[in-house]
Amino acid sequence: MRPWTIDADDIQVAEDFDASLLHRTNWIDDFLAHGRDERFIVTGTKGFGKTLLLKAKRVVYQQSKSTVCLPENALLDKPIGDKIFSAEMVDLYGHSTDNWRKVWLISIAAAALKHLGMVDGLALNPRLSALLADANLRSVIDHFVNLLDFPRADLFRSGSETDSHLVPRLRGINTPLAFFVDSIDEYFNKHIVTSTMRASDAGELSPEVWHLAQMALVETAYQLRRVNHHLKVFAAIRKEAFSKLDDATPMVQQYRGSTVDLSYSQASLREIFINNIRKEKERNLVSPARLRADPIEAYLGLTHVVQSATGQREEVFEYIHRHTLQRPRDLMTIGQKLSDIAPAERSEHAIKTAVNQAATEIAREYLNEISPYIGVELESVFGLIPANVLVRDDLDRIYREHNRALRARGDEREVHVFCMLFKAGLLGHVATDLVSAQRVQRFLRPGERTFEPDGILPPSTHYLVHPVLADLVQRCNGDYANRADRFNVIGDGRPWNEGGEEDLCVLQADIRDFTGLMQSPAIEQAVRRRLREAVQTHAGECRLFEISGGDSLTLVHHDPNAVIKVVRRIMEDLFEGEGHPVMRVAIDHGPVNLSPEPGSGGVLSGTPFRIAARLEPHVTPNEIWVTDGFREAIERGPSLYRAVPIPPEQQQGEAWAAGRLNVRKQASREADQWVRVYRIEDRSGR
Ligand SMILES: Nc1ncnc2c1ncn2[C@@H]1O[C@H](COP(=O)(O)OP(=O)(O)OP(=O)(O)O)[C@@H](O)[C@H]1O
Ligand SMILES: [Mg+2]
Repeated sequence: MRPWTIDADDIQVAEDFDASLLHRTNWIDDFLAHGRDERFIVTGTKGFGKTLLLKAKRVVYQQSKSTVCLPENALLDKPIGDKIFSAEMVDLYGHSTDNWRKVWLISIAAAALKHLGMVDGLALNPRLSALLADANLRSVIDHFVNLLDFPRADLFRSGSETDSHLVPRLRGINTPLAFFVDSIDEYFNKHIVTSTMRASDAGELSPEVWHLAQMALVETAYQLRRVNHHLKVFAAIRKEAFSKLDDATPMVQQYRGSTVDLSYSQASLREIFINNIRKEKERNLVSPARLRADPIEAYLGLTHVVQSATGQREEVFEYIHRHTLQRPRDLMTIGQKLSDIAPAERSEHAIKTAVNQAATEIAREYLNEISPYIGVELESVFGLIPANVLVRDDLDRIYREHNRALRARGDEREVHVFCMLFKAGLLGHVATDLVSAQRVQRFLRPGERTFEPDGILPPSTHYLVHPVLADLVQRCNGDYANRADRFNVIGDGRPWNEGGEEDLCVLQADIRDFTGLMQSPAIEQAVRRRLREAVQTHAGECRLFEISGGDSLTLVHHDPNAVIKVVRRIMEDLFEGEGHPVMRVAIDHGPVNLSPEPGSGGVLSGTPFRIAARLEPHVTPNEIWVTDGFREAIERGPSLYRAVPIPPEQQQGEAWAAGRLNVRKQASREADQWVRVYRIEDRSGR
């Protein structure tokens, strides 16, 4: 098994199966344990790992040698191609699981009895006799495919003869036999994917066929246990079909008890990701020496990335996980994309670009996968979504606009597009975690609720657009990224910041003697433009950047080193321009009130704004002065900079006394406010 296997179908024989790549949780161990067979159905939507788990089960059985495993020369039995249906077949199979159950039971009975040489001396109708006599047909699926062509009368006769003749023989089997059946969904895919078409080359179509064929396999596998405990059918069933059993049968609880419903925690997905990294060749790692201590760092060369809209540092796997729909296959898609970047080129930018591209692929495929089940094309709303955090009023407005646009196109349906996005796991909401009492972001997982009838959106202060959609929305709406929420990184399970308070660096800067420069309108314009450009180029990662009055700059950042770096670059760019302007820069660090207003970029306030603004006029031009609070913040970690006390010769004027500066606004009634002030210098390397 190569690393980053996207589809477990690529594993052909037991030797290809790599047990070290399979992540095992308690429930997987339970499922795989030999002799623990109460669960025999594996269910999940696409890409959740059904095939891989079924193959793992088969390998365990095969190695135990106590059970005969069928099919003989492949790990799983699966149909090839697809089946064209006639109108008569749709009539026969499109209404209930009854006839499907006949077909499954006959197929399994035929395969079992043939394999054990127990078909002699049976008095059966000619068609069924011929089926049992045909030595070319061996597996369950071989028989299944042929049985679908039986005319109605033959099928019914064969069904009752199976009950009266084959089932009694099945009861007599005392050799343990296990069947492994996968991918029934794919055999009937046309019925789902092209269900809007009428009869065509694809034959007669009915989405029910896709559902019922799989539901009947669950029912038959369950019944067979009751017939003879030596007979075991293990099967993979799509969640969309399994969910339909809820309404169809009172047996659903028993079926659930026989089923493994695939779902992986973030920790499990991380483990799966790491297992694949361990399979990478050493030359495809950035720092092979780190493989033991931190495999993800070994693979990518970094441990954290900075989220651009909020400036928050994020552990790199959290970033990756946020850009998936939490299916193992999504991680393979991302891992593969990262693996394609040469190790020397795995910069933060390259990694983020690859993750975002993979996320867009994931979103595209997922939208294709779900559209048949929800019957609505969701993309049409993307152009109307202004930002990644929305409030109820936004949703109501977009909902009305969207339906108006649909009507203009002749579609008279009233589409609850946000309910659909919510159920599909693409629209999140904010909920209170019962355990921690914290506010957290929640997105449903694919398959969790997708197939329930139209629900209501849960009430929430905010609604969140899933990060996998970012690029698709951005393409319809160029302003989307600019309006990204500045306080919250969006992702399932992440905390929701209500606003509240956070310790941040607040910088105020001013161009020295701006009025002097302004004597020439041409220079004034050039300086203003240059400041704007420099800020746009360098301040992107700040929580807030703002120019006021043409010459006055405010930056807010969580990282003291980064804020110095950003402002120095702005100072350099500015100086290179006409008039060689220089700035005074003042920075404080302390609690800032965060506004919860979505989409607005937020209004920030707090003492650090005032202190920085009061300090700034005292600063010697072209220097960066900071407060005690900032000095402490920068001394907490490694830094290229250090904060040194302002030398006595610079402590000029009335505002200075005993090494401290009174930052009270001059000529105002404000109370005195004495602060210690420092100047930022480069740290000496010695
Ligand atoms: N438990 C696991 N441990 C490690 N990797 C896993 C696990 N489950 C799934 N994967 C990875 O996810 C990939 C997709 O899984 P798989 O092909 O089994 O999905 P599926 O549910 O059969 O999808 P489909 O519905 O498209 O057939 C696998 O190739 C494998 O790389
Ligand atoms: Mg599969």
